[in-house]
Amino acid sequence: MSKTFHITTFGCQMNEHDSEIMAGLLIEKGLKRVDDVRDADIEILNTCSVRENADKRFFGTLGQLKNRHENGDFLVCVCGCMMQQQPVIDTLKAKYPWVDIVFGTHNLHTLPILLDKVSAEKSKIIDIWPDTDVIAEDLPAERLFKHKALVNIMFGCNNFCTYCIVPYTRGREKSRAPEAIIKEVEALVADGVKEIMLLGQNVNSYKGYSENTDNNSNINNNSNSNSNSYYSDANSDELDDSGVESTMHSGKYTSFAELIYKLNDIEGLERIRFMTSHPKDLSDELIQAFADCDKLCKNIHLPVQAGSDRVLKRMNRVYNREHYFGLIKKLRSAVPEITISTDIIVGFPGETEEDFEETLSLVNEVEYDSAFTFLYSVRQGTPAEKYEDQIPEEIKHERFNRLVDAVNTISERKNSEYMGRIEKVLVEGPSRNNPFALSGRTDGFKLVNFSVEGTSFETCMDKLVGRTIDIEITGTKTFSLEGRIVE
Ligand code: 5AD
Ligand code: SF4
Repeated sequence: MSKTFHITTFGCQMNEHDSEIMAGLLIEKGLKRVDDVRDADIEILNTCSVRENADKRFFGTLGQLKNRHENGDFLVCVCGCMMQQQPVIDTLKAKYPWVDIVFGTHNLHTLPILLDKVSAEKSKIIDIWPDTDVIAEDLPAERLFKHKALVNIMFGCNNFCTYCIVPYTRGREKSRAPEAIIKEVEALVADGVKEIMLLGQNVNSYKGYSENTDNNSNINNNSNSNSNSYYSDANSDELDDSGVESTMHSGKYTSFAELIYKLNDIEGLERIRFMTSHPKDLSDELIQAFADCDKLCKNIHLPVQAGSDRVLKRMNRVYNREHYFGLIKKLRSAVPEITISTDIIVGFPGETEEDFEETLSLVNEVEYDSAFTFLYSVRQGTPAEKYEDQIPEEIKHERFNRLVDAVNTISERKNSEYMGRIEKVLVEGPSRNNPFALSGRTDGFKLVNFSVEGTSFETCMDKLVGRTIDIEITGTKTFSLEGRIVE
């Protein structure tokens, strides 16, 4: 009987997609995926390190696996962003020496090889790559949804926001070749995909060099990367400041906006989304693409992080409030119906009451459709960890609550404007809260729940999931809309 595996994913959509790829690799190898860890022979924990609570949840979940590991034939593998931090590896070695395989963000495609090695040698493996210039191409992915897919367009981040661990865990920016992305999307569309979500830490700095140009002489510096057929050359043109020499390029590259135009031409594809954008390099060209490309959804996630110029500067965000307002104005004048969401951090070191009020005023002025709000969390090894003016927890929480109130009031008001409208909704599956309803997303990424009375629920599911249908909005809430199918 074939072995079974289960993956627990913490964190962002990049991690979700990494897990889809690992699942694809293991299924290709003949393993079977199970929904419950209790039925699995292999458990993989794909970790996130962006905030402290994700760290804590990982160690809590790992601890619960120990008895099971001791009692039987059960492999435990851990991977993802946390593994790129030496203190985490030290903790694993000291307190969790029973973990079978530890690997990082740069070598997840080697999982099948690592599993073979552990089975053959009955040993434990820790294999972390510091960074890599190579991008593994043509990896299989076991998608969560039939009709929508996550597509990596670039990896890593060069921005070094002072609070953020990502540049240390995901390495320097590397863009995939446009041809590789287009080929992947065409294959996805042939497989029934209607909507793609382009992923990168900072998609606006995508620089895609073509695969077969003369000036594309890549240097592969990674000593670990010698034997895997999945490798192709990466497209980073940045000189690395972490000691890893990067691939050099010259000549013409495809910008992010140009990539969107190319993807917009793919027949059968209905919707293109992307995340995340950094306001510092959101180009006029991309804003124009929103107006020109019918498949590009009229929705943008544009993290502002703070409303005070002083805080933005200390965060190393490289834009100010005025620049951000300018972008919002341009976006809304090019595409009046665009919906906008953001990320905001509360309680960054040195944030005064006046700074925080500037964040509140920015939120009230921009009027976001939705916002993810975070309490600042100290990350070991980041510049902000050393800032001496850390904010007491109770002040952070008090500000956080005020911000959430402001954000929710606006979301509720914005959603109420949808009452009575007819929206095109791409149906995703059963509603989370109502077993007799289906849910889907509007072009602007609003979640819509709608009931399907009359025919049986299964028939409706089969008929509607993956299709775009007209829904009349009959009710509005803070985080979702309700509607009915327009006959
Ligand atoms: N503390 C709190 N929030 C953080 N984020 C990133 N690092 C931290 C941190 N140290 C938030 C930012 C980012 C989102 C993905 O996570 O808002 O946009
Ligand atoms: Fe982190 Fe800033 Fe890079 Fe986003 S842009 S991943 S917040 S360093």
